[in-house]
Amino acid sequence: MTDNGTHRLVVLGAGVMGTGITATALGHGVPVVLIDVEDVTLQRARDSVERQLRHARLLGATPADRPAGALLTSTDIGDVGTATAVVEAVTESPEIKQAVLTEVSRAIWPGTPIISNTSGIPINEMASWVSRPEEVVGAHFMNPTYLIRTVEVVRGTDTGEATMTAVAALLAAMGREMIVVNDSPGFVTSRLLHPMINAAARLVGAGVADAESVDALMQNCLGHPTGPLRTADLIGIDNLVDSLTVLHKRTGDESCRPSEVLLSKVRAGELGRKSGRGFYDYGKALS
Ligand SMILES: NC(=O)c1ccc[n+]([C@@H]2O[C@H](COP(=O)([O-])OP(=O)(O)OC[C@H]3O[C@@H](n4cnc5c(N)ncnc54)[C@H](O)[C@@H]3O)[C@@H](O)[C@H]2O)c1
Repeated sequence: MTDNGTHRLVVLGAGVMGTGITATALGHGVPVVLIDVEDVTLQRARDSVERQLRHARLLGATPADRPAGALLTSTDIGDVGTATAVVEAVTESPEIKQAVLTEVSRAIWPGTPIISNTSGIPINEMASWVSRPEEVVGAHFMNPTYLIRTVEVVRGTDTGEATMTAVAALLAAMGREMIVVNDSPGFVTSRLLHPMINAAARLVGAGVADAESVDALMQNCLGHPTGPLRTADLIGIDNLVDSLTVLHKRTGDESCRPSEVLLSKVRAGELGRKSGRGFYDYGKALS
C-alpha cells in the first residue's frame, strides 16, 4: 500500500468541487489544506466534506482499512507553500483563475504541480499566467467526486514529464484512474456535455417539453444516467453558464452561447442543488 501521508494536498476553492476533491483525498488518507476567501465558506465546506466522507464510506467508495487524512482550512493562499501538489478549483472565471494561479506560482516550491479542475479554460492559456508553465496540468474531476473514479487529465503543450508523473501518483493515491487528452477548450467532456445541456434547456424554454420529460426521454430512450437537466442542477447552473461562456468565447460555436433559460435561472438565484432549486425543487440547499 502506498503511504498516502507523503502527499500534502492544497485545494483552492471550497465550493462544489473543492469539497468533493477534498473529501475524496481525505477518504484515501491524503491530508488536505482547503483554502477559500471567507471563513463562513470554509465552515460550510467543513460540514459538506464531513457529509461527503460519510456518504463515501457508506457506499464503500473509500478504503475501509485506512484512517482519513487530516483536514485544515485556511483563508491564506500563502499556505500553498506547504503543498506537494495544488489543486485549483476556484470559480470558472479566467480573471479569478489568473489572479489565483499567478499568486500560487510565486508561493510554491519549484516542481510542485499546479493541477487545475477547470471545466474548459485551455491549459496552455493557464500555463501562460505562471512563471513555470511546465508545472501546470488539468485534472477534470467530476461531481460527485467520491463516486466518479475516472478523471480527464489534460496535458498542455508545455506540461512537463515530472508534472505528469506527479499527477498520476496523486490520482493513484486517491483511487482514481486517469484518461489523458490533449488541450482544447472544454477538452472532451465539457465540449460534448455542456452544449447538450444548453440545448436541453433551450427545448424547455421553447415549450417543447418540460424538464422531467426531457430527462426521462434521455434516460429511458438514450441511456443517459441522470438526464441533462438533473445534471445541470448537480453541476450548478452558475458554473454551467460560466463554462459555456468560456467555451463560446474560445470556439465561436453558437451552441455554447448560454441559453436564456439558464441565464434567467442564474438571475433568479436558482442554481440547482446547491441553492435548493434549479430545474427541480430540492426543498433545501444540498451538497
Ligand atoms: N460543478 C461541477 O460539477 C464541476 C465539474 C468539473 C469541474 N468544475 C470546475 O471546478 C471549478 C470549481 O467549480 P465549483 O462548481 O466548485 O464552483 P463553486 O462556485 O461551487 O465554488 C467555487 C469556490 O471558489 C471560491 N473562490 C473564488 N475566488 C477564490 C480565490 N481567489 N481564492 C480561493 N477561493 C476562491 C469561491 O468562494 C467558491 O467557494 C470550476 O473551474 C468549474 O468549472 C465544476
